[in-house]
Amino acid sequence: MTKIAVLVGSLRKESFTRKVAKNIMKLFPEGYDPEIIPIGDLDLYNQDLDDYDTPAQSWTIFREKMRKCDAVLFVTPEYNRSIPGVLKNAIDVGSRPMADSIWKGKPAAIVSNSPKNLSGFGANHHLRQPLVFLDMPVVQQPEVYLANIATLLDENGNFNNEGTINFLQTFVDAFVDLIKKYQ
Ligand code: FNR
Repeated sequence: MTKIAVLVGSLRKESFTRKVAKNIMKLFPEGYDPEIIPIGDLDLYNQDLDDYDTPAQSWTIFREKMRKCDAVLFVTPEYNRSIPGVLKNAIDVGSRPMADSIWKGKPAAIVSNSPKNLSGFGANHHLRQPLVFLDMPVVQQPEVYLANIATLLDENGNFNNEGTINFLQTFVDAFVDLIKKYQ
């Protein structure tokens, strides 16, 4: 079974981003097990705890969970033209101790969304930058920017049209192809 960690960049109860993530999780083929790994309770990263003291327990739990995953799907909204702090904190926590980064070599894919026209473009591209440094191969095409997200979801939070589902299926297929290259 190939395990996919799904990291959601919003903690909001009614988050559109989480709804999008849950829809995309359904599109993985048999043999793939996507799971949302919580990042909201992670202590803020403090290098002293890794270098001179005891790492926070929340970091250790997160790092252990992530180590068991073969690939990472990031689904994020945009905050102030970048990624939300909660997601950046998770990336920083996972990146240390440097020699033991949980990210290195793990295939990744990015989805951004927004309730209005922008589609999270800024967040999507800011997220690509640390993933380069962290040595993660990332799905390049198709890029996924979902604008006006509420119009794509029905009252149960499911995608309401075939076009969106088909497009995201091609994205998941590209992600699966990338994962296979690294297995
Ligand atoms: C936002 N929002 C936002 N939207 C956007 O398209 N570009 C942006 O730069 C920002 N900046 C921003 C900053 C902060 C602090 C908040 C709280 C919100 C609006 C954002 O897209 C909206 O709240 C989404 O609904 C957030 O995603 P979830 O929580 O629905 O997943």
